[in-house]
Amino acid sequence: MDNKGLFITFEGPDGSGKTTQIRKLADELERRKLPYLLTREPGGTEISDKIRAIILNPENLRLEDTTEILLYAASRSQHVKEKIMPALHERKIVLCDRFVDASIAYQGYGLVQSIDTIKTINRFATGGLSPDRTYMIDVSPEAGRRRMRARSGPEAGITRAAGDLDRIERRALAYHARVREGFFALYRENKQRILLINGENRPEIVFDTIMHDFERALKHWHGKTD
Ligand code: TMP
Repeated sequence: MDNKGLFITFEGPDGSGKTTQIRKLADELERRKLPYLLTREPGGTEISDKIRAIILNPENLRLEDTTEILLYAASRSQHVKEKIMPALHERKIVLCDRFVDASIAYQGYGLVQSIDTIKTINRFATGGLSPDRTYMIDVSPEAGRRRMRARSGPEAGITRAAGDLDRIERRALAYHARVREGFFALYRENKQRILLINGENRPEIVFDTIMHDFERALKHWHGKTD
């Protein structure tokens, strides 16, 4: 895909701490006055956020797996066209909290659905856009759940009390173990693109690892665009 921006994604199981890390990287870009877009999936646009609210609402017990796959892809399609591609064309650094890898791990491996079909649907949704670099922060399902339970605040139009989990988070630990295996499989297949990081380390150590790698990615990108 022809664009001059730098597309970075963050992935990992729920409770991996990736949202904290992506915000820290955005703060660093802000400090250096580098043009960037910080965004997330599902969501990132007004329409995509409405889709997010449907997907994550724990009351939507009847949502079919196939519908779930398509809703994530629909949210992504809108997001790519309305936000991500324009930012990349403006030569921005796009930091995106989750992307297609999440659909492969959560819907493909987690829900035991066809990986090939999910890839095809997402190729259609994104026009084949793929990240330049992905930081995959790993955490065990047990540690991830402990962290999620400690969290609270407004989300997807629902204000959560401490301990409240969304529709995906409240799935069984066995589901989350399959998701984690999915992320490992993605890592094995895409070692050039994905950096796998131990999210059970202290947040400062995780961030140092990301920054060290990011500096190299930045240099490589400047080398290409200068
Ligand atoms: P978040 O916790 O990173 O905001 O993501 C919301 C939930 O949606 C999280 O449990 C992961 C899940 N998810 C999928 O199942 N498939 C996807 O394609 C994406 C982007 C997220």
